[in-house]
Amino acid sequence: MNALLRRVLVLGSGGREHALARAIARSPSAPEVIVAPGNGGTEQPGEPRIRRAQVDLAKLEEVADLAEREQVGLVVVGPEAPLVQGLVDLLERRGIAAFGPKREAARLENSKAFLKDFALRHHIPTARHHTVTSLEQAKAEIELRGAPIVVKADGLCAGKGVVVAESTEEALDAAKAMLVDRVFGEAGSVVVLEECLVGREVSVHAISDGERFLVLPPARDHKRIFDGDRGPNTGGMGVVCPASDVGPELLARIEREIIGPTLRGMKAEGHPFKGVLFAGIMITSDGTPMLLEHNVRFGDPECEALMELVEGDFAALLASAAAGELEPSHVKIRHDRHSVVVVLAAKGYPASTVMGAVISGLDAAAKAEAVVHHAGTRRRGEAYEVAGGRVLAVTASGRTFDLARDRAYRAADAIRFEGKQLRRDIGQTVPRETVLR
Ligand code: AMP
Ligand code: GLY
Repeated sequence: MNALLRRVLVLGSGGREHALARAIARSPSAPEVIVAPGNGGTEQPGEPRIRRAQVDLAKLEEVADLAEREQVGLVVVGPEAPLVQGLVDLLERRGIAAFGPKREAARLENSKAFLKDFALRHHIPTARHHTVTSLEQAKAEIELRGAPIVVKADGLCAGKGVVVAESTEEALDAAKAMLVDRVFGEAGSVVVLEECLVGREVSVHAISDGERFLVLPPARDHKRIFDGDRGPNTGGMGVVCPASDVGPELLARIEREIIGPTLRGMKAEGHPFKGVLFAGIMITSDGTPMLLEHNVRFGDPECEALMELVEGDFAALLASAAAGELEPSHVKIRHDRHSVVVVLAAKGYPASTVMGAVISGLDAAAKAEAVVHHAGTRRRGEAYEVAGGRVLAVTASGRTFDLARDRAYRAADAIRFEGKQLRRDIGQTVPRETVLR
């Protein structure tokens, strides 16, 4: 399958979607990309193949109308929310090709209780757990298990629904906030209590047509706001790819024990997973990969790092997955290169975000052999200003990790705005000696 897609619609407004749009726009089969609702970076005069359209992603019919009006050959869904609401089901009913799972397959991310039971059914290694629906049940279980213990709201909570509790009091407070105070609404009416795993985390993405799949290089996110993994959790402050401590053998094991069984399990249960499966994995101290969670979309900023390592016709790859006939030969994965993303965040992030600061130095950054993906930005005349928590995802690649990192930091340092926050230690805890094969 190598039909000309002509025009692709990418849905979302983060750095992830800017990176997807660029990878698609340089694909021979899809010279034109619309990003909706997009951000400041998806309406740049220097990128004429990418344009922006307005749409409310919560209004699924309007999204389908836009796709029809623009006669797009493929819709690529960035964030999880529209997938969970059934956007792909709707698009397919209207005869529009879409890359992303249908609603039932998106349950892998939408319900942590479903995921845990699914993992047990299909013998996928994961932490021991117990599902509760009342504070009394939670209390009994927390007292039985003791701390540390992980408390997870069942549904989608914009990345805030997981508490790794150091004490039983903290665990009880978290369970009460979810089950009684309903801080996450219905998403917290069911709570999963989970054994706390210790180890190194890695993000593994696989593009699937429901049956076959292509595993992308392992990426490592840096979730805490401050250097040394201190401070509150964020959406992700930087990524290195590949995570060089996850070599080919370990990656093959992850594929064999986690990715393969998940995709076969979904198909066997009547809900084949088409799209990108992003497994959050903990490598425990004895080297065992355990599934922490599945996401049904690309990670952000993992995606920005991955797109640096994908060459060829990425749009055709996604279209082949959407059509149920994955054709990995559309792309070449650069296993001989490394990529690094350094996120520039706004003042106050992640607690609260101070908007409106003017951004300077973008031209100088572009000259530093880096790619600047926009996330929380908006255009104001010829300039850009801060319009969200994570503002820019500065991305670079190189033959070695050091080269990629130096390029990314040179560009990151060239960009200025008031209150800019960044981590200085992206990738520094990763062993560098590992030879890539
Ligand atoms: P997310 O749901 O992606 O926001 O993930 C929350 C984070 O919580 C993960 O990335 C891990 O750092 C942590 N986490 C989730 N489950 C466990 C677990 N069983 N043991 C230790 N940490 C966990
Ligand atoms: N960077 C982690 C995520 O996208 O969930």
